[in-house]
Amino acid sequence: MNVSNLVDRATTDIANAPNIDALEQTRVKYLGRNGEITQLLRALKTVSQAERPKVGAAIHAAKKSIENTLSERLTELESLRQQALTSEAKIDVSLSSRTHFRGSLHPVTHSLALIEDILVRANFKVAQGPEIEDEYHNFEALNIPPNHPARAMHDTFFLRNGMVLRTHTSPVQIRTMEQEQPPIRIICPGRVYRRDFDRTHTPMFHQVEGLVVDRGINFAHLKATVINFVEAFFERHVEIRFRASYFPFTEPSAEVDVLGESGWQEVMGCGVVHPNVLSMSGIDPKEYSGFAFGFGADRLAMLKYNIPDLRMLFDNDLRFLRQFG
Ligand code: DAH
Repeated sequence: MNVSNLVDRATTDIANAPNIDALEQTRVKYLGRNGEITQLLRALKTVSQAERPKVGAAIHAAKKSIENTLSERLTELESLRQQALTSEAKIDVSLSSRTHFRGSLHPVTHSLALIEDILVRANFKVAQGPEIEDEYHNFEALNIPPNHPARAMHDTFFLRNGMVLRTHTSPVQIRTMEQEQPPIRIICPGRVYRRDFDRTHTPMFHQVEGLVVDRGINFAHLKATVINFVEAFFERHVEIRFRASYFPFTEPSAEVDVLGESGWQEVMGCGVVHPNVLSMSGIDPKEYSGFAFGFGADRLAMLKYNIPDLRMLFDNDLRFLRQFG
């Protein structure tokens, strides 16, 4: 048997294989189950005892050599295929890649997260309530009876089933006091709705309500909490004033103004919880007292970032939103 002639033939066949499929056929022809090398190895038993080691070694050497040639050709064909693909698709690998825009939190989302972070660190728990509310929780239980003039301050969306879209997050105070006895220390962030639309009003906005009820709570606790919060939110020293005001659910009541570039800006309402509000929700006002505050998170974001029109926060104009990245 002429092993070296076989290796020469295989080498030529391999070199002539035009592609990977053809190369595979060549492999099968020599090394497959019925390939020439395999047949030679099978025929080894017919060779005389004396010759067998020499012939066997020669066949194995031939097999090794063919395997090496095959794998070299395979590498070559693979790189040819890559080249062909690249030129066919005309991929210009030197072209610069497309720009990626990194997303960022919406300024309102960012503000809400910052507000929650500050107040949770001040030991407030986060409470939630429904956006579709009944008039009892939105008004009555907050000491705003049906014909009370304060109802006119809330441009309420009334639903056909007698419910309302909550006009503030204050009803969550009520729902919390109905469920829990003091000590209570909660904030209620959430969406609220009013029939309003101008530079500083949108029909949907975000409020955060705060409520603390315990023994011996007074206006001084409220003042300290509000001042610390406002300075933490604006991340600087802020001139703050408490201006006497009126809310049916607090007595005394105040509005908080901060000094901004265009003078004093109102940022929140607050006060000492009215005894009627405590007792209506099952808390004894002779034993406990509390303070509450409520503000618009969007309005605070507007002041912090100098946004001239609240409605810009809800236009979803990417040119505006990208400035907060
Ligand atoms: N609920 C009031 C509003 O939406 C804000 C407010 C004022 C909340 C005083 C309070 C408060 O808890 O004590 O206009």
